[in-house]
Amino acid sequence: MKLANRSMVTIDDLSNGEVLALFSLADEMSISMKEQHGLCGGKIMASLFFEPSTRTRLSFEAAMHRLGGSVITASDVGATSLAKGESIADMARVVGSYADIIVIRHPWEGAAKVVADYAGIPVINAGDGGHQHPTQTLCDLFTLKKERGTIKGLKIALWGDLKYGRTTHSLIFALAKFGADILFCPSPGLEVPEHVIDKLITEYGGEVEHYKDSEVEEETLFPLDAVYTTPSSPHQLAMMPDISLHVELKSGVDALYVTRPQKERFTTGEEGKDLKKEYPVVDKKLLRDKAFRQTLVMHPLPRVDELAYDVDADKRSMYFKQAARGVPVRMALLALLLGVKDVKIPEVESPSPIDYHIYNRVSGLRCPNSRCVSIQETETKYLKPEFKIVNYEPLTLRCVYCEHGIEPKFVASADWHEGKLDTKKYHSADSHWVHTIKPENLIVFNTEEEARAHGFKPSHFTGGHR
Ligand code: NCD
Repeated sequence: MKLANRSMVTIDDLSNGEVLALFSLADEMSISMKEQHGLCGGKIMASLFFEPSTRTRLSFEAAMHRLGGSVITASDVGATSLAKGESIADMARVVGSYADIIVIRHPWEGAAKVVADYAGIPVINAGDGGHQHPTQTLCDLFTLKKERGTIKGLKIALWGDLKYGRTTHSLIFALAKFGADILFCPSPGLEVPEHVIDKLITEYGGEVEHYKDSEVEEETLFPLDAVYTTPSSPHQLAMMPDISLHVELKSGVDALYVTRPQKERFTTGEEGKDLKKEYPVVDKKLLRDKAFRQTLVMHPLPRVDELAYDVDADKRSMYFKQAARGVPVRMALLALLLGVKDVKIPEVESPSPIDYHIYNRVSGLRCPNSRCVSIQETETKYLKPEFKIVNYEPLTLRCVYCEHGIEPKFVASADWHEGKLDTKKYHSADSHWVHTIKPENLIVFNTEEEARAHGFKPSHFTGGHR
């Protein structure tokens, strides 16, 4: 499959083979940076950064300049028509008519998907709220691959703010896809969100083990929330339920992936907490432990207090290399999506995306995530809520934009019995009806009021929800 004219909204948009092909091209380009100037002559990249950025924006812009292309830019919502109430779709259509490729960073989760749906040109997600940051993940994987030769089988500990750190969300899925083991070391209260764990389990067949503090207090160096391990062929795991490798931090890890507290996304309650006291710090002293003898210290940057400056001189520190590698990695990505370079995609194992049934009926269901693009006032005029039906027990829908999950309480069928109005009934989502109704006929409601408002009456199976 060719990469030309495609977008990169989430890390799922590239197969493992495509990622490896991109890395070969990035390697090739990094050896002869100055010789790439002829590749993108006449091409324009629109760089739209509506959240602060240093590395991502400048490395994308440097990459386009190195390829001989031009850059147009908007970096402040206040200075664009978005501030006048323009929708993201309208902006995307317009910018899509000015440029050949768009790179967008936006605080709303799922915003990059909307841009990709409407721009008509390739779109790259440079971070959409706390959702994903797939190109940072490419830089992270590229570094792992260069330093360790492979990603499969590595043990990577993710450290710090795993709740709002979008780089960790993309990285979790990528590591799972490549068959690495992941250890979660969150700062208390900033654990990996449920919807990320759910996707890890349903889409990548991951197994998550939770450790209670009491079980591991003596064993580990710091509180370990959960261990996730992948089998050698991740996409098979769903059919192999007994795979469970027990990995502990004390047995050594290949990389510690440190992140800063994403304070800009904290809720009011979280802001009030004294995070500094609880947030784990990586410093020279910690790295003296024998478990970390061979450990790469990674960080997407910027750092605040979670990574001491005394680690910088250590040869295990990788963060400035990760940042520097952003240019060749992004050059390769731009060249491939713009179709000015072609690569041979190696045939490697890669989990194939699951073809979920899409739910997009107007039944009052909205994404529960207040940061989701699909529920913002300017966007609801044209965006229909859309979900993937990812599970029937319990019935779980996943927003196609921000990927948060929702478990609706009631179900009904659009094809009610004999078409008679008095058979137009709704049922509890945990009754047998959820399996009886065909996915294409499924209607879901969060409350009985919603079901009644749509003309449905309660059946005998509204259970405890009545
Ligand atoms: C990250 C981001 O913006 O998510 N920075 C980056 O792009 N390298 C990480 C962060 O801001 O903490």
